[in-house]
Amino acid sequence: MKIVTTIAEAQSRQRSKPSVLVPTMGALHKAHLELIRVAREHAEQDGEVAVSIFVNRLQFEPGSDYERYPRPKKADEDFCQDAGVDLLFRPTPAEMYAGDRSVFVEEASLSKTLCGKSRPGHFRGVCTVVAKLFNILTPDVAVFGEKDFQQLAIIRQMVRDLNFKIDIMGVPTVRENDGLACSSRNQYLNAEERQQATVLRKALLKGAEMTRGGETSPARIVSAVRETIGQAVLARIDYVDLVDAENLQPIGVVRPNTLLALAVFFRKTRLIDNILLP
Ligand code: PAJ
Repeated sequence: MKIVTTIAEAQSRQRSKPSVLVPTMGALHKAHLELIRVAREHAEQDGEVAVSIFVNRLQFEPGSDYERYPRPKKADEDFCQDAGVDLLFRPTPAEMYAGDRSVFVEEASLSKTLCGKSRPGHFRGVCTVVAKLFNILTPDVAVFGEKDFQQLAIIRQMVRDLNFKIDIMGVPTVRENDGLACSSRNQYLNAEERQQATVLRKALLKGAEMTRGGETSPARIVSAVRETIGQAVLARIDYVDLVDAENLQPIGVVRPNTLLALAVFFRKTRLIDNILLP
């Protein structure tokens, strides 16, 4: 595995085709491994699987967890090596962002709802760094997880609207045995919070069960989902929303392709999850 820390090196590398990129912020876990597996499938034997690890300050709002975000450098490196990654791109913040930077990439519609409402500037940070990674590493394919459903939709929009010649692959959410979606932020949870966080999956399944039973009222579903989450005393809801899975706008009545998405704090840790309603 080649490890590259500068943009110049990344851009001048000998690149085998196809090249498939998995952008990450590190603290790699089994969901990242699944993305890397899908990347290898698309790169085939001879193509390149590239992973980027960069904790992108631009997507963290002031006062959030940028400083304490885990950065297990050696463990991540071993993880990539063992996963059969060909290229690990691990730039420093100074390498990625000039002090006087003044150009950003902003998606102006899909990023207005869900997490975009409670994390202003977050998706601008995501789009900017992903566009830069695309320009630096020029992959043919890039792989993203459906756990961050809104992020995936926004990246697809950016690729379409800015004509990046890159195929975007979505990978279904990878979960722990008890249903909690894998996340680098799960390691912030203490035992009690971790146990209570299982309520999120239960609440999503409750919503799915209601629509399967014929319920079409977003208000009634949201209210039942909130009630389920409320059973966990440490849970503080940021949002529970039903949106159209294409444009992420609120819906008046549940119909095919409706996304139930939520963000919930367990003390200081904010977790997100979602489900496409049946
Ligand atoms: P990060 O949170 O490290 O996630 C990297 C990729 O792994 C994202 O595409 C994310 O959706 C995916 N992922 C994380 N947990 C997942 C799970 N449980 N199931 C499926 N996929 C999962 O997302 C980011 O980093 C950043 O915003 C980034 C795109 C790298 C830009 O900085």
